Amino acid sequence: VKRIGILTSGGDCAGLNAALRAVVHRAIRTYGWRVFGIRDGSMGLMTRPLNYVEFDLSLVTGDMLRLGGTILGTVNKGDPFHYPMPDGSFRDRSAEFVEGYRELGIEALVVIGGDGSMRILNQLCRLGGIPMVGIPKTIDNDVAQTDYAIGFPTALDVAGEAIDRLAPTAASHHRVMILEVMGRDVGHIAINAGVAGGADVILIPEIPYSLDGIAARIAAVRAEGRNHALLVVAEGCKTESGEPVSTIQAGGEVRYGGIGHYLAAKLAELVQAETRVTVLGHVQRGGMPSMRDRVVASAFGVHAVDLIAAGKLGRMVAWQHGQVGDVPLSDVAGITRAVDPYGPLAQTARGLGIYIGELPV
Ligand code: F6P
Repeated sequence: VKRIGILTSGGDCAGLNAALRAVVHRAIRTYGWRVFGIRDGSMGLMTRPLNYVEFDLSLVTGDMLRLGGTILGTVNKGDPFHYPMPDGSFRDRSAEFVEGYRELGIEALVVIGGDGSMRILNQLCRLGGIPMVGIPKTIDNDVAQTDYAIGFPTALDVAGEAIDRLAPTAASHHRVMILEVMGRDVGHIAINAGVAGGADVILIPEIPYSLDGIAARIAAVRAEGRNHALLVVAEGCKTESGEPVSTIQAGGEVRYGGIGHYLAAKLAELVQAETRVTVLGHVQRGGMPSMRDRVVASAFGVHAVDLIAAGKLGRMVAWQHGQVGDVPLSDVAGITRAVDPYGPLAQTARGLGIYIGELPV
């Protein structure tokens, strides 16, 4: 009987448990394998005793589809090559990970992670000769070669609902409402939610903007007879002159966000309007997975196991052309999939009269 391991790595999101469930079902039901869930991402293989649970079908009921987060836990900051120690130093703990893998006696590892985790785990697995298959997840949706990463569809629904709730109160008070959504390096949530929610302005890290450009759009909205406006901004956006605003230090770390309040202060003066800010934050990562996330996660989980069964290792499952497929991990690791500033969705936004910044011609 084959033994495989599975772990969730990096920031959590909705749909992780649905993917775990699918992997366990496929591995046990179709192939008769044993499945070991490694706790707290790569940490579970680095600690002694090893931290894991053996799955059986009673642990992966339909309730897993509805459950946010990850029942395995995930440790965000534990890059084994550069592991932060309590005294502030860093240590290379990659050998402990590889030894842990051998001790567990598994023959392949399924890694559910974002672009960062995919890169680090791919490097670790190559180093240790560990056969790996990746499943993409991140609400930012910036994993290369896949239309969807697990968690993005739910985060988009949450952001869209927030705009739906903000629009009536903006109208009642004649305010400029600013919604700051997640998206550290990319604006997939912002541009999708902004288009879906009827925003007047969408700012994403991929496209530079000017405060005058935003003000001009708000003036145009007023000229069209509307006395309120909706602005959606990705947390990774910088000030007009390109300065980062996301510099609140927590435990020595740079945190993201703050751009919403910067814009609110500037626009209040520039357009003489009351501005209010909502920072959506981790609400986008939690809660019940959307139906789209459940379908994508289930398809990813089943396909990941099939790849192992077929001996197709070193690959990541991907959503392409409306269905599940797979791509080489080497085409994915370390690459960020950004919003195409000239792509169809950006064109849609422009076509709707939304201000999305200014590009060099
Ligand atoms: O990468 C996913 C993400 O949710 C980003 O959108 C956000 O900037 C970051 O993670 C937040 O990370 P943490 O959970 O460590 O605050």
